[in-house]
Amino acid sequence: MKTASSHSLPPHIHYLDGQLGVEQRSLEALAREHGTPLFVYSQAAMLDALGGYQRALAGREHLICYAMKANSTLGILQSLVRAGCGLDIVSGGELERALAAGVTPERIIFSGVGKTRAEMRRALAVGIGCFNVESRAELDVLDAVAQEVGQRAPVSIRVNPNVDAKTHPYISTGLKGNKFGIAHEDVVATYQHAATCRGLRVVGIDCHIGSQITQTEPYLDAMDRVLDLVQAIETSGVAIAHIDFGGGLGIDYNADAPPPAQQLWTQLLHKLDARGFGDRKILLEPGRSLVGNAGVCVTEVLYLKPGEQKNFLIVDAAMNDLPRPAMYEAFHRIVPVAPRPGAPTTWDVVGPVCESGDWLGRDRALAVQAGDLLAVLSAGAYCMSMASNYNTRGRATELLVQGEQVTVIRQRETAADQMRLESLLP
Ligand code: LLP
Repeated sequence: MKTASSHSLPPHIHYLDGQLGVEQRSLEALAREHGTPLFVYSQAAMLDALGGYQRALAGREHLICYAMKANSTLGILQSLVRAGCGLDIVSGGELERALAAGVTPERIIFSGVGKTRAEMRRALAVGIGCFNVESRAELDVLDAVAQEVGQRAPVSIRVNPNVDAKTHPYISTGLKGNKFGIAHEDVVATYQHAATCRGLRVVGIDCHIGSQITQTEPYLDAMDRVLDLVQAIETSGVAIAHIDFGGGLGIDYNADAPPPAQQLWTQLLHKLDARGFGDRKILLEPGRSLVGNAGVCVTEVLYLKPGEQKNFLIVDAAMNDLPRPAMYEAFHRIVPVAPRPGAPTTWDVVGPVCESGDWLGRDRALAVQAGDLLAVLSAGAYCMSMASNYNTRGRATELLVQGEQVTVIRQRETAADQMRLESLLP
């Protein structure tokens, strides 16, 4: 039996015989075996999402560097690295995870506004492919650190194209008022300076205009501006071997309609060719669009708490597991794992954490009873990687499904795990 809503579920997540499943596995059976809250990911969904980018870029020199901040669990990294991805990192911690997942160091690029000297040293020692530098001050520190160790650091300068990505202000990064990138008007001088630094080797240019972008036009605008800069930089005598257009492509959380990656990139590459830059190596840094819709978080309904003004459905997942609603008022669809017949009631779905901000969904029509399982959809990106231990809640178990096969890619964190680095007073 298929339910009416099954057609609108993300790829590889479907109802079969009245039960929600990921690929060939039933979520109810997985929850019974592994407990809740439980993250379950479809590897096929990630690889399909990656395929869209790979098809658009086929035949060109390119590197898709998965922005691992979206979900940095080792099993997820391995899945994407084995499928051909490099990795975009933003910290020394992510560098160690990237290496542990087996990526070739030259396929790592290092983004972020605040790299420390220690992080730079380690990244130089392992031989990463590129540092995406975000300020003149950072450029000079990297130059000095590289000279100390007798190396030339491969650099790309992140430019701020000053385009409106038309997304949530917290995740829009390409406007003048943000902390990211080097202002348009300072770019050529910064490249000329970089070219004179003995510890640096200029290899590229990069930009990233924001996240959860659902329109094509901001990308087209950004590309035009970046190419104008490439032209100006090269006229000033500095060659640009690769162009990195960042990440940012949105996913469908709730009737969002982002362009498919293949369509977007076919269009963008057409522009690149038309402007005469089709020979450059292309780098991309997608995060959410590779993993976001590949994951669900399964949670158990603990209590029904009907009220005069609001009905609350108290579930065992919380803002520490799924921080996006509390942080950005983000919408995640919530569906029953085994739909019940009967009229739905309108509920606010909330967690056990002691904060009014601890909600997962508001005003959701659901027919449920205590003990039922719900699935929070589109939970593959920026959920586990932003999870915390608030209220001394252990982070959830994560499972990766590949057809029939299930791998525990992260065990549930215990109270002892959480206290491991603490000491009692003498
Ligand atoms: N490259 C850079 C330099 C970035 O800052 C980001 C994300 C990405 C790539 C990947 O962007 P994506 O393709 O995932 O949109 N926590 C927020 C999203 C923050 C994004 C930060 N930067 C959320 O949950 O919506």
